[in-house]
Amino acid sequence: MKPTLQAVRGMNDVLPVDSHVWQFFEDTVRGWLTSYGYREIRLPLVEKTDLFVRTIGEVTDIVEKEMYTFVDRLNGESLTLRPEATASCVRAVLEHNLLYGGAQRLWYQGPMFRHERPQKGRYRQFHQVGVEALGYPGPDVDAEHLVMIARLWRRLGVTDVALQINTLGTAEDRSRHRTRLKDYLRCHWDQLDDELRSRCERNPLRVLDSKDPGLAALIEGAPRLLDDLDEVSLKHFEDLQALLRGAGVEYEIVPRMVRGLDYYNFTVFEWVTGQLGAQGTLCAGGRYDSLVEQVGGKAAPACGFAIGVERVLALMDEQGLRPESPGIDVYLVHQGAAAGRFAWELAERLREAGLRVIFHCGGGGFKSQMKRADASGARFAVIVGDTEAASGRAGLKPLRELKEQVQVAPHELPRLIRGQ
Ligand code: HAM
Repeated sequence: MKPTLQAVRGMNDVLPVDSHVWQFFEDTVRGWLTSYGYREIRLPLVEKTDLFVRTIGEVTDIVEKEMYTFVDRLNGESLTLRPEATASCVRAVLEHNLLYGGAQRLWYQGPMFRHERPQKGRYRQFHQVGVEALGYPGPDVDAEHLVMIARLWRRLGVTDVALQINTLGTAEDRSRHRTRLKDYLRCHWDQLDDELRSRCERNPLRVLDSKDPGLAALIEGAPRLLDDLDEVSLKHFEDLQALLRGAGVEYEIVPRMVRGLDYYNFTVFEWVTGQLGAQGTLCAGGRYDSLVEQVGGKAAPACGFAIGVERVLALMDEQGLRPESPGIDVYLVHQGAAAGRFAWELAERLREAGLRVIFHCGGGGFKSQMKRADASGARFAVIVGDTEAASGRAGLKPLRELKEQVQVAPHELPRLIRGQ
């Protein structure tokens, strides 16, 4: 029977049968990021709404439709559950003057909130691992990000992940391009609905975001930003590609890629898989050289990316890469007052030796405790009755093999349990 109170749609529980998979991913990610010299920053889940409106852009799906915004009851301030954390990261770096001492390689992880229509791979609370390199003009650091992501896929063992890249040039390139694009879209005005017409007026690049299959041909025929780039933009893009080729990272140029957030310039990219249906983008990011200034700091170049954790875990599942749960080594079964005391101390001793031990709580006879031991998944039961306690020994019973119980001295247990 379902309880009357259920989780909010699109916000998921991670249950114990799955939490070890998350932990494996988080451990792998921590080691991977440390090996590239990135340091963790922990950011609040709530920020002032204005931070996101100013940085992500007013004419974006996130700001127009997807933010969880509420008014602080005490002072009437508008606050928002973070839909992403690049803006928060830049805000924190400026607030704590971190760029003052030089460039920063940072990472963060945790939940993000977007009021999207939930479906497989798209949630209202989802998790990202994000990386931001602030103070670096690139393209070496842009390339570093792509090379390191390729390494993460190898470490996790996932395959069928392709890199798509594009460049959005400079603000001047985009302004030139916007004029050409507007002219083009005005020639196809009858195909646009009211929302897209409004977007065309306010930010015509956003029309190319439309997922409407009826507009695919219109979008395909639109002028390409790549053709409106100046020399500096082209050089950044070509230098990046040379670095990727040198590192053996394969990529495809997708000239229509615009990304759903406004702060990008130059490099943008997405890592996609065909194995997760419509929500196949595993990781996305790019360069955002104006954001630091926009948030109120002295201009500094920057770039970064975020990985969608649920999607990577879904791909690992799909590809049979789910790690085994580390499990329990010992379930400690005991009956009788003296045995209970002896077993309690023994459990601590075994944990001291590095073993994972569940001490039976809640009483009951040997038979029912052995059932619990079996259900716990433990490899061994260690059994103590008052007779064993009196002789200072314990029974060791393998639970996953057909082997007899043996009586052993406590100091022998760790070696025998490890199979040495
Ligand atoms: P984004 O493309 O909005 O970029 O999100 C990055 C990744 O988060 C997506 O590729 C996807 O894997 C995952 N994701 C996004 N929305 C959802 C959702 N509703 N459900 C499940 N997964 C989702 C950013 O957020 C930028 N802050 C990335 C960045 C960092 N750019 C520069 N630095």
